[in-house]
Amino acid sequence: RTVYVNGDYLPENEATVSIFDRGFLFADGIYEVTTVVDGKLIGFDGHIKRLQRSADELKMNIKVDEPEMLEIHRELVKRNNLDQGMIYLQYTRGNPGDRDFAFPPEDTKPTLVMFTQEKKVVGTAVEENGLKVVTLEDLRWGRRDIKTVQLLYPSLAKMEAKARGADDAWMVQDGFVTEGTSNNAYIVKDGTIITRHLSNDILHGITRKSILACAQLLQMKVEERPFTVDEAYAADEAFATSASGFANPIVEIDGKKVGSGKPGEVSAKLRELYIEENM
Ligand code: PDD
Repeated sequence: RTVYVNGDYLPENEATVSIFDRGFLFADGIYEVTTVVDGKLIGFDGHIKRLQRSADELKMNIKVDEPEMLEIHRELVKRNNLDQGMIYLQYTRGNPGDRDFAFPPEDTKPTLVMFTQEKKVVGTAVEENGLKVVTLEDLRWGRRDIKTVQLLYPSLAKMEAKARGADDAWMVQDGFVTEGTSNNAYIVKDGTIITRHLSNDILHGITRKSILACAQLLQMKVEERPFTVDEAYAADEAFATSASGFANPIVEIDGKKVGSGKPGEVSAKLRELYIEENM
């Protein structure tokens, strides 16, 4: 694989970053994942805008140059012959010197790394069979709207879900579902799509925005509000959205079948329109 580090395209085994980088020492970094289908980028604009927002919220010394970023993304797709998969982009605050909680805001030169990863995203088994989730307490920090690389709790939650025979975890705060470990969460009840409203409690998904636009085009009813675990158990349908999963059906929550226990119609329709609109 050819990867990108601070201006250079390198074979992956020649790419290096300092051990003093604050991304490594403090998880002081932000990222974006853009999906690629037929060599084309999906939702690039939204990802790049969110990247700048994350940087600004953390007062990182970063001015995202959109055309330059697009160029690097395209170059990586080309050099790696990427047909389906994703491009991972990570900015860390960089290496200001010694390990210190405080950092010099102006002088720190950020570190930018990017790489590609092949992954089947269209015509997946998940689309066909759906996912099983378990609910777990949401123990993440309070600024989940910032896409930071501190992903330890979501990783542990995913492992716990797998240990319980499921695919993913839906995280819960005060009895209400926040989101999945790496996706936004939805239920459907009596034809209405319910998903948590945007706040600091969840990531403002780029796919979420597109899927809600699709719902509007299909004249489906949408309520943006928190929903409880009990509401999820009683839902007719459930699904999750993310850059690489589009709208993935959820067929089981905590061992209980959702509706018929088969992937639902609403998520299938949304998925179809999303693909039509974005590819
Ligand atoms: N995850 N919520 C969380 C916590 C996420 O990590 C993600 C994305 C989403 C969906 O956002 P989007 O639609 O913009 O991909 C929601 C990425 C894909 C990841 O960490 O790999």
